[in-house]
Amino acid sequence: MLSETSRPIIEATLPVVGENIGKIAERFYQHLFSEHPELLDGIFNRGNQAEGTQQQALAGSVAMFASALVSHPDQLPEHLLNRVAHKHASLGIEPAQYQVVHDNLFWAIVDVLGDAVTPEVAAAWDEVYWLMARALINQERGLYSARGVRPQIVWRDWEVTEKRRETDDVVAFTVKRIDDRLVKTSLPGQYVTVRVPMPDGVRQPRQYSLISADDGEHRSFAVKRVRGGDKPDGEVSNLLHDSVDVGDTITMSLPFGDVVLDDSRPAVFASAGIGITPMAGMLSHLVAAGSHLEITLLHADVDEASWALRQQVLDDVRALPNGELHVWFEGGAECSLPVESVHGGVMDLSEIDLPDDAVYYLCGPLPFMKAVRQSLLDRGVSTRDIQYEVFGPDLWQADAD
Ligand SMILES: Cc1cc2nc3c(=O)[nH]c(=O)nc-3n(C[C@H](O)[C@H](O)[C@H](O)COP(=O)(O)OP(=O)(O)OC[C@H]3O[C@@H](n4cnc5c(N)ncnc54)[C@H](O)[C@@H]3O)c2cc1C
Ligand code: HEM
Repeated sequence: MLSETSRPIIEATLPVVGENIGKIAERFYQHLFSEHPELLDGIFNRGNQAEGTQQQALAGSVAMFASALVSHPDQLPEHLLNRVAHKHASLGIEPAQYQVVHDNLFWAIVDVLGDAVTPEVAAAWDEVYWLMARALINQERGLYSARGVRPQIVWRDWEVTEKRRETDDVVAFTVKRIDDRLVKTSLPGQYVTVRVPMPDGVRQPRQYSLISADDGEHRSFAVKRVRGGDKPDGEVSNLLHDSVDVGDTITMSLPFGDVVLDDSRPAVFASAGIGITPMAGMLSHLVAAGSHLEITLLHADVDEASWALRQQVLDDVRALPNGELHVWFEGGAECSLPVESVHGGVMDLSEIDLPDDAVYYLCGPLPFMKAVRQSLLDRGVSTRDIQYEVFGPDLWQADAD
């Protein structure tokens, strides 16, 4: 809880900090990386830095947390904190690094706001920072200890045992452990961070959702090649497609992620494009567990040929006694696979009966998830029953809508 001394100061300075938070985040990262260039090797994602999305995510999270402290002091933004803690844990972030981030963030605040940062203002924002940092540190400590690891050992080397082409743009990798350590179980829907050395020697981390249930030996994930168009091509996805092959070793973190299946209620998975991956992982877990729940997969893609993991998810839906699969193809309502229904165009939930009391899981491009979430809300589904996974820093924060 924010102290009574800081509360009015935060309330009074929120507008000016809010207005300048984007600039502060930008200066913060410039300063952080000039003081600590080692953070660019294997920890921060330089694609997100180049696009400015991580700067926006950090700025948005601090502004959201501070407003929540002022307007709902008894209710911290749980979804935001969970997402960040899981992402941090998948990168092995350590408590001591919070002091480094603090010092550079406050350097940036003073750099941008100048004399407006009186000692009282600095002290009040310091309190906000440490409230947020402590909440994250505690949660991350819980995540590490639940898996019996320290931050330094979330990483492990694996051997690639299969590289399977799924579509023109997607390959699926299976990797196998190469040491005797136990393979920790994942929760359905979680991702790993894959960390690979780039041609310039710098290691780059990227998250990939697990697409199959645990067997104690292997992990599998599928990667879509990111084509840049007028921007640079995605560096890690292209490297994985072009240069990582069976027999190679790759480094991956333990699985983390806060969007996980509630296996006590019917579930509806709504995915588009490569957003099929966490759904494939959840379906695979449900099949392994012999689930009798009502499970509906709704998937949108360009056409059948561009639908990654289609055979795997079809087999899994068929293996579930109460599974259904409906697809939407922009290229037209044609599908050779035995699904429940095929539609042309973009996903339209009014065309489908959905189970009562379901939990909804969304994954795909942001406009797709926003449209599906809105139509669910229009049908009377509660926000509490809609979860979504963003394949990048979460700039949406739907709970704050
Ligand atoms: C929780 C989570 C789960 C995910 N699961 C999956 C999954 O299952 N499968 C999957 O394929 N992906 C998944 N992703 C996305 C994945 O982590 C990567 O973001 C994706 O593979 C792209 O990485 P990249 O290195 O190829 O692209 P990057 O190099 O990071 O590029 C990303 C974008 O930034 C642009 N960019 C890069 N450099 C610049 C520059 N200098 N100037 C301007 N623009 C630039 C690129 O053009 C591109 O559009 C997931 C992400 C998250 C967060
Ligand atoms: C109170 C302090 C902090 C806040 C508010 C914060 C906030 C965030 C947010 C909002 C994200 C994006 C999450 C997402 O949607 O994917 C994130 C990711 C990340 N954070 Fe933090 N963070 C803090 C501390 C730290 C520390 C101490 C480190 C260690 C150096 C760190 C390293 C990272 C990294 C490497 C990522 C992933 C970046 C990317 O993928 O582009 N953070 N953090």
